[in-house]
Amino acid sequence: MLTLGIETSCDETSVAVVRSGREILSNVILSQTDHSKFGGVVPEIAGRAHLRKIVGVYRQALSESGVELEQIDLIAATMGPGLIGPLLVGLTFAKGLAFAASLPFVAVHHIEGHIAANLLEHHDLQSHHLTLIVSGGHTMLVEVNGFGSYKILGATKDDAAGEAFDKVAKLLGLGYPGGARLDRLAADGDPEFFRFPRPMLKEPGYQFSYSGLKTAVALYLKKLSPDQIQQQLADIAASFQEAAVMVLVEKTVRAAKELQLADVTVSGGVAANSRLRTILAERLDAIGCRLFYPTLPLCTDNGAMIAAAGYYRFQNEGASEMAVSAVPYLKLGV
Ligand code: KG4
Ligand code: ZN
Repeated sequence: MLTLGIETSCDETSVAVVRSGREILSNVILSQTDHSKFGGVVPEIAGRAHLRKIVGVYRQALSESGVELEQIDLIAATMGPGLIGPLLVGLTFAKGLAFAASLPFVAVHHIEGHIAANLLEHHDLQSHHLTLIVSGGHTMLVEVNGFGSYKILGATKDDAAGEAFDKVAKLLGLGYPGGARLDRLAADGDPEFFRFPRPMLKEPGYQFSYSGLKTAVALYLKKLSPDQIQQQLADIAASFQEAAVMVLVEKTVRAAKELQLADVTVSGGVAANSRLRTILAERLDAIGCRLFYPTLPLCTDNGAMIAAAGYYRFQNEGASEMAVSAVPYLKLGV
């Protein structure tokens, strides 16, 4: 079964063709760059950019897959959570295409897409597993009881982990979005240079909080001269990253132990973080758990994960109503 997956919830316009939820035939991802000068995603600009690019990205995805629209069996698109304008572009395009080609259409939860990124690539992953979702908009630990059955163990009370990386990267003059650049810079720094707070590390439960850590970095930087900051840039980046990552690692390992889950996945843009991957792998290995994470193109927002999630949703529940609309604050179903 061939699924065309469409993702436009934030600042990536992406269309993919995936066979049976497992084999990627194409996955075209166009990341918008127009937002960097504003230091964050501007919803109106994002919506208009999706509108300009969606047809071209769709054509490229079909041509790279070597498949014609007539061979596609299912159209899937993100319905939320995300920015309303961007979501509407992808969703409306998908519904129009499905209607014109008389194909079933399925609306996909963006977070379920991130969860499906690991199902797509790791075929021996147990259906009952723990997942850490860490992106620019979300930070949550979820017990997956099988596709479509989720228990949210905890989430962030304020900023998402990726948001904290982006805000600190901006404070360090690394531009926007700076999470990946901060990761690269931190590789040359000393993570023990300064001990930033590790918010909620010791508290029971699985909630996160990242706004205080960002503020702690901002206050620390205020005490330094521009020259001192430049000299210690890599050390400060590494010290922040250590605090941010340790909280994610600690809570994930604790949840894996308490729930006695042998398989753990990480997904979302921050799953690309090299320090998170290294430390989490070490800590989980020590307690006999397996860690899975997507390859880099499947960490950030992409159409392939939406196609995979759409395929599984269609298997479980059939097609969505054509009347379904975009929902910016869509909750992850249980
Ligand atoms: O999943 P994603 O593409 O979009 C959302 O759904 O939010 O995640 C983007 C986020 C951004 O905050 C970006 O800075 C962060 O992922 N990110 C990273 C790294 N690569 C991307 N954060 C830390 N280290 C990285 N290597
Ligand atoms: Zn995402």
